[in-house]
Amino acid sequence: MSNSAGLFSSSLGRKYLMAITGLFLCSFLLIHLIGNVSLFTDPVQFNEYTRFMSSNPLIRIMEIVLVVGFLAHIIDAIMLTKANKAAQPVKYAMDKKKSTWYSRNMGLTGTIILAFLILHLQSFWYGYKFGDVAMTLDSSGAAIKDMYTMVLAAFSQSWYSAIYVVAMVLLGTHLNHGFQSAFQSMGLRHKKYTPAIKKVGTAFAVIMTLGFISFPIYFYITQL
Ligand code: HEM
Repeated sequence: MSNSAGLFSSSLGRKYLMAITGLFLCSFLLIHLIGNVSLFTDPVQFNEYTRFMSSNPLIRIMEIVLVVGFLAHIIDAIMLTKANKAAQPVKYAMDKKKSTWYSRNMGLTGTIILAFLILHLQSFWYGYKFGDVAMTLDSSGAAIKDMYTMVLAAFSQSWYSAIYVVAMVLLGTHLNHGFQSAFQSMGLRHKKYTPAIKKVGTAFAVIMTLGFISFPIYFYITQL
């Protein structure tokens, strides 16, 4: 067996993979949130941003890396959960007292986030690429797909916005535990640094949750 195959079939290797793919997905979330800010400021700029995202060759390559990262993270999570269950079939009451709700429910929150992602990609990513999107004008007067109006139409439905709000709160709990856990899995445990990493993780989770929630809430309220 090659060294790398050995690394990723071991429990330690899987924890590393989980941590690296998790942090990679965190960097995607940050970029995605920043890109979406133009939804508040300028519909034309947002439409130009989505055209750039779906046509730039470098972004296309990053999309493949993103899909592989997501799949590796999910498959690894399933394998680690199975290995943990096999190693510790009886749950001790003490464990519950020591751990937080979100650290015990990473599998549940991760599954709900995956379900959200399928809905999200179906309505926005698939909708943009293969759906019947209305056309508008870009800043140079050329025709461009009107993704802004598509987002606005989606978020003016209360059930759709409500799903986003719930999913984003669960994403926040997933990130809050996952961020600091990634550093621990990579062996970074330190009296001085671990509390600081936990604080950064919580701040990141809060910013992502409030940031992503702000879009459905803003569009829902302005459509009333
Ligand atoms: C309410 C907040 C959100 C809005 C308004 C939004 C909007 C969009 C839009 C318009 C697209 C298609 C165009 C593009 O690639 O930029 C997209 C793609 C995507 N979104 Fe979101 N998104 C939100 C939250 C999220 C969250 C929380 C996640 C992850 C958990 C996510 C994951 C993705 C992925 C993976 C893609 C495909 C990226 C690509 O192909 O380049 N989005 N989103």
